[in-house]
Amino acid sequence: MRQEEVSGWVNAARSAFATAKDLDSLKVARLAHAGDKSPIALASRGLGALSPEEKASFGKIIGEAKAEIAQALAQATQALEIERDRKVLLEEIVDVTLPVNRAHRGGLHPITIIKNEVSDFFIEQGFAVAEGPELESGWLNFDALNIPADHPARTMQDTFFIEPIESGMVLRTHTSPVQIRTMLTQQPPIYVVCPGRTFRADELDATHSPVFHQVEGLVIDKGITMAHLKGTLDNFARHMFGPDVTTRLRPSFFPFTEPSAEVDIFFNNRWIEWGGCGMVNPKVLATCGIDTDLYSGFAFGMGLERTLMVRHGITDMHDIVEGDLRFTRQFGVGI
Ligand code: FA5
Ligand code: MG
Repeated sequence: MRQEEVSGWVNAARSAFATAKDLDSLKVARLAHAGDKSPIALASRGLGALSPEEKASFGKIIGEAKAEIAQALAQATQALEIERDRKVLLEEIVDVTLPVNRAHRGGLHPITIIKNEVSDFFIEQGFAVAEGPELESGWLNFDALNIPADHPARTMQDTFFIEPIESGMVLRTHTSPVQIRTMLTQQPPIYVVCPGRTFRADELDATHSPVFHQVEGLVIDKGITMAHLKGTLDNFARHMFGPDVTTRLRPSFFPFTEPSAEVDIFFNNRWIEWGGCGMVNPKVLATCGIDTDLYSGFAFGMGLERTLMVRHGITDMHDIVEGDLRFTRQFGVGI
């Protein structure tokens, strides 16, 4: 009778383990059929109350039954663990051959790259970087630079005026007002570069854009001469265009420099204007409260689009302003 009863427990445990569908349900079955409160465990604990003969015969039955249950449990556990691992591998599979929609990393525009490069070049030589607003007062953009309202030079740069006209505000036509801002707030010696965006009512064509960039340079110190200007520009040109670059200074006129010159670069079998320069007009120094007996200086203003075009053989300004990524990516990301 007892033998049959124990076989019943073993069979019940076997079938419960065999039908458990995963490790969680196997745990429930284990507690029921092999746990502390299972029939086999209770019977095992009851052995102590039996007589020595009964203990010997019944103990053997219980021991064998326990071993069978333990073996059935081990088998079921192993099978379910294999099954679990197989499922995990399937669920977490990564098909490395699937096509991906890869996001491109953002990058700097080539104008920004060249602007940083120019700033770095001058910073290495002890220059500071100065900045000014794009919406500028007419006084700083023109008058303080010795370009009075009725001066013909005012029409040299086609200006975007801002409403109301009485505000006297303009979109700066060049970076030269940053010279004035610097000299009004700092005492010499002054060594600054001012890269920035500038605006003129010019038609977009192969070499002009209504929105473009310049980098201004300004040096005010004791004993500064045209030779310093020429040396600085030659170094700058070699740094930007390589040691074999051919430049020339062409006499020119700017109300804020005297003498004035334009800097040309030989490119594409012709001379292309890179920028303007000259010795800062003493009138401008005086306007800014700088002692012209003690100090003199030079200034220059180069086009950054022109710099990029000459350096990379870009023949059409449209490529720079249109923002086509096929063009921009050729310059790398410049991070
Ligand atoms: C000036 O703007 C003077 N402020 C430069 C200067 C500074 C002279 C300091 C003396 C001392 P200019 O108008 O020539 O000069 O312009 C300078 C450069 O800006 C040009 O040589 C050219 O490289 C660039 N530039 C001018 N207009 C445009 C435009 N519409 N599109 C692209 N680049 C331009
Ligand atoms: Mg010019």
